Amino acid sequence: MAPMLDLDDIQGDVPVGLQKDFEGFIFFKILDRGAFKLALRCDVIGRITSARRARARELEILRRKRLGHAGRDPMPGLNLGFTKDGLTQLLGPQRPTLDPAFERGADDPKTTATLHDPDRSDWLKEFLGDRIDGVFLVTAHDRPLLTFHRNQLVGFLGSGISLIYSEIGNRRPGRERRNEHFGFRDGISQPGIRGVTPPLRPGVAPDEGLPGQDLLWPGEFVLGYAGQHSTDPHKPGPEPQMMAPWMRNGSFMVFRRLEQKVPEFRAFVRQQAARLGMDPELLMARMVGRWKSGAPLERAPLRDDPALGGDDRRNNDFGFGDDELQRRCPYAAHIRKVYPRDDLDEAEAQRHRIIRAGIPFGPEVAAGETVTRHSRGLMFVCYQTSIERQFEYIQRHANDPSFVGGKRRPDGGTVTPGHDPIIGQAPGNGARSMDEPYPNYPAGNRRTTLEIPSQFVVLTAAGYFFMPSITALRTVLT
Ligand code: HEM
Repeated sequence: MAPMLDLDDIQGDVPVGLQKDFEGFIFFKILDRGAFKLALRCDVIGRITSARRARARELEILRRKRLGHAGRDPMPGLNLGFTKDGLTQLLGPQRPTLDPAFERGADDPKTTATLHDPDRSDWLKEFLGDRIDGVFLVTAHDRPLLTFHRNQLVGFLGSGISLIYSEIGNRRPGRERRNEHFGFRDGISQPGIRGVTPPLRPGVAPDEGLPGQDLLWPGEFVLGYAGQHSTDPHKPGPEPQMMAPWMRNGSFMVFRRLEQKVPEFRAFVRQQAARLGMDPELLMARMVGRWKSGAPLERAPLRDDPALGGDDRRNNDFGFGDDELQRRCPYAAHIRKVYPRDDLDEAEAQRHRIIRAGIPFGPEVAAGETVTRHSRGLMFVCYQTSIERQFEYIQRHANDPSFVGGKRRPDGGTVTPGHDPIIGQAPGNGARSMDEPYPNYPAGNRRTTLEIPSQFVVLTAAGYFFMPSITALRTVLT
C-alpha cells in the first residue's frame, strides 16, 4: 500500500519542486518577534505554496506541453525555512532539539571541517556577520513577477525582519535552459517517493517511478512517515521518532552557494584531454558520469547519444554493478560517487538519497572571459530528514578518495577511485585526483590519473534550514 502524504500540509519545494525559472533566496533575521509572527499569520502563510499546489501545477505544465502550447503560465511560489537560531527566536531557548547536524549548523567549525569546506572567512561577507534566522524561497516564471512578489513579501514583513542577503537564481537561457553552468543537463535523476511519484508500469515495476527511479518511503524526505528499512530496500522502516509532534510534514533543507569557475574548468579539460590524447567532451563526461545531453556513460561509453539523454524512460535506467572495472564509467565520476546504485548493497544505497531542488545563478560566460570575472554557479538545495545520513554522507564520500571501496584492476590489483572531480573537496583546499580518466573500453589496461590542482566548484555560503509544515507555521511557530 502506498502511504498517504498530507500534500496540503507539506511545503511544495520539498517533495515536488516549485516551478522555477527564477528563484529569489531571501535570508533574513527576525528583529521583532511579535510583528514577524503577526505578518506571517495575516499575510504570508496563506501564500505558501503547498506540495498539492506544486503538483497540480506540474501536471498542468505537462498537459500544456502535450497540447503543444508555448509560453509559461505565471506560477508564483513561496516557501519558508528557519535555521536553528530562527526556531529559537520563535519558540524560545527551551525548544526541543531537532536533527544533530541542523543544531550544529552549516557554518559550525565541526561541519566545515567534516566536509572539508573552505574556511568561513572565504564565504560571502553577509554570511559571516549577522545571525541568519530563515530564508524565503520566492519563485516565478520571469524576473519582473519575481521582483513584484519579493517586494510585496518584504513589505508585509516590514520592520519585523532585516534582510541579511538576497540573491536571484535563474535558469540558463535558450538551449542551455535545462543545463548547469558547465553545460550538463541537470535534474535528471531524483529518487521517487511512494505516494507521490506514480509508477509508470505499476503491473511490471511497482517499486519504480520512471525506469531506474526507485520509489522510496516518504520518511526519507518528509518527517512523520516511515522511511527506508535498513536491510530490505522495499519495506518501510520503523515508525518515525520525532523530537516534537509539530515536526510532522516538515523537512530539512541544505543550502550551498556553489560558485563554478567555468572558463578555468574548460581550459583545464582542454589541456588534460590533449595530454591524455582524448576528446575533451569524453573527458568531461568521464568526470560527470553522463554526457552533456544527459546520456549516461553506462549506456553510451564512448560517444554522446542525445536521443538517449533526452529520453526520460531510458536515461536513468542503468546500474554500475556490471561495470566492475570502470570501463564504461569511472568509479570517481560525480554521479557514481554521489549515488553508487548497485556498487553498494541495495538497501544501503537507498539510505543516502536526497531530493535536489537547486537552480543556477549568475550570468553566462562573457566573450573573452578566460578567467572568471562574474560570480556564477549553482544555488544547491536539497531536502532530507537526516542531514548527517543524507547530504553530509554524500559530500563526505565525494571527498573520500577510497570510496567506493573494494574495486579491482583487470589484473586483480586494488583501486583507489579518487575524488569526485566536480564536488569533491580535499582538506585545506588541497589537490585532488581521479583514477582512470581515459577509458579502457571495451578492453585495455592503460593506467591514467587526472590530477586536479584546484577546485572548479567553490563553496561561498551555506545554511541548514528546517522547512516546517503549513500547520506548524499556523500554530506553534506563530
Ligand atoms: C556546482 C556543483 C554541481 C554540479 C555542476 C553538479 C552536476 C550534476 C549533474 C550534471 C548531474 C547529472 C544529472 C542528474 O542526474 O540530474 C548531477 C547529479 C547528481 N548530483 Fe550533482 N552537481 C553539483 C553539486 C552537487 C552536490 C553538492 C551534491 C550533493 C552533495 C550533488 C549530488 C548529486 C546527486 C545525488 C545526483 C544524482 C545522481 C543519480 O541519482 O544518479 N551534486 N549533478
